[in-house]
Amino acid sequence: MPDLRSRIFRAKYENIRALSIKNRGSANFLDSPGSFVFNNAVVYVKRRLGFERNKRKMKVSKRAQEVPTSATIAVTSRAQELKAQGVDVVGFGAGAPDFDTPDYIKEAAIESLKAGQTKYTAAAGVIELRKIIADKLRKENGLNYTPEQVIVNIGGKHSVYEAMQAVLDPGDEVILATPYWVTYPETIKLAGATAKIIETGKSTGYKITPAQLEAAITDKTTMLLINSPNNPGGFTYTPDELKAIAKVLEGTNVLVISDEIYEKLIYGDTKFVSFASLSEDAFNRTLTLNGFSKTYSMTGWRLGYTAGPLEIIKAMGRLQSHMTSNPVTFCQYAAIAALGEPSAAAIEQMRAEFERRGKYMSDRLNGIEGVECTEATGAFYCFPDVSAHYGRNINGANITGSMDFAKALLEQANVALVPGLPFGCDNNVRLSFACSLEQITKGLDRLQEWLSQ
Ligand SMILES: Cc1ncc(COP(=O)(O)O)c(C=O)c1O
Repeated sequence: MPDLRSRIFRAKYENIRALSIKNRGSANFLDSPGSFVFNNAVVYVKRRLGFERNKRKMKVSKRAQEVPTSATIAVTSRAQELKAQGVDVVGFGAGAPDFDTPDYIKEAAIESLKAGQTKYTAAAGVIELRKIIADKLRKENGLNYTPEQVIVNIGGKHSVYEAMQAVLDPGDEVILATPYWVTYPETIKLAGATAKIIETGKSTGYKITPAQLEAAITDKTTMLLINSPNNPGGFTYTPDELKAIAKVLEGTNVLVISDEIYEKLIYGDTKFVSFASLSEDAFNRTLTLNGFSKTYSMTGWRLGYTAGPLEIIKAMGRLQSHMTSNPVTFCQYAAIAALGEPSAAAIEQMRAEFERRGKYMSDRLNGIEGVECTEATGAFYCFPDVSAHYGRNINGANITGSMDFAKALLEQANVALVPGLPFGCDNNVRLSFACSLEQITKGLDRLQEWLSQ
């Protein structure tokens, strides 16, 4: 007669066995039904006896589970993996300028460290920096913000996240036109709100029209996101197009987030205008977002900023005081230098080089059969439509959309670009021209050859 302990043990074993058989075919399925039952039983027994307590599957919040890794980061990682294996990959995935941070900015950071500026500062950033940002916005953008209406964040990405957290509640809707930067829908979701996606296309240059905007506004609409110059589209809204959007918003309670991080990287006769400068109404309803990553090639320094209505900036400041505290102290002093005198020449050198590469890239892309590309007017991306190749089989790979296209191109021709699907445009792919002309030529030669098979 077995004792009580072993009878309980036996009953539990039978239970898990029955459960395992019922769940056959689940994600835990190992080599064969038998081994599945056996393995589960062993794991169960070990857990009950306390041997595998630390192997328990840990809880991850629903919120975190629902956020995928950024598609741009995923493609870069795979390209890096191949490079590490010795494969000669041409990378068009970069979201960072390939220039070094100008020396005068680095020197300011070194001076700051030597001066002992290594402690906490005010959570929203040192007042000298907030003042110089307010000056910049007044002189260059025609925006009259006080320094208190400016907060320095830990990168533009943080500005976006914090703005969403400060403004949105569950049930709120945010109007987001395709193509959009991958981070926007995720930060909207993380704030419990809903992204109302508006599809654009080639016919409007991938820009939302006033009629589309008007039709999308409901009593739940809390926010409209505008990103010009645009990532991934490489297009820029004209001042007239922005004015027409501002007109639609008059009389509504819709807040605009104007992400102007590529402001200085514009080409040809493109004119940049800050949304908030269009009218008093636009000024009062806009959060202007900008940062140092793209203009000064400072992606690793993590510096962004937001300017706008005082109550929202204060709310962001309260959140920031608990989330991160201040941006890195000596980086803030380097940012003060970045906005100073020598900046114009350094920016122009980079801008002119991007212009040359962007033109070359779009000309070459348009020369490839089944590829259609509008010349970039801003940022450093081409966003060609490659959908004419969907439905083909290339070297055994079925190309049904941008994900297959990017995957097969990387694996077969060793060219890394970013699929358009995560930006809301499956017909397109994104190629960054933040790499040398030599790399661009090599990568486009490969792309052309691959598609001509
Ligand atoms: C449209 C847009 N906004 C904001 C950012 C944020 O840049 P960072 O966090 O480096 O300042 C990026 C970066 O890729 C971007 O493309």
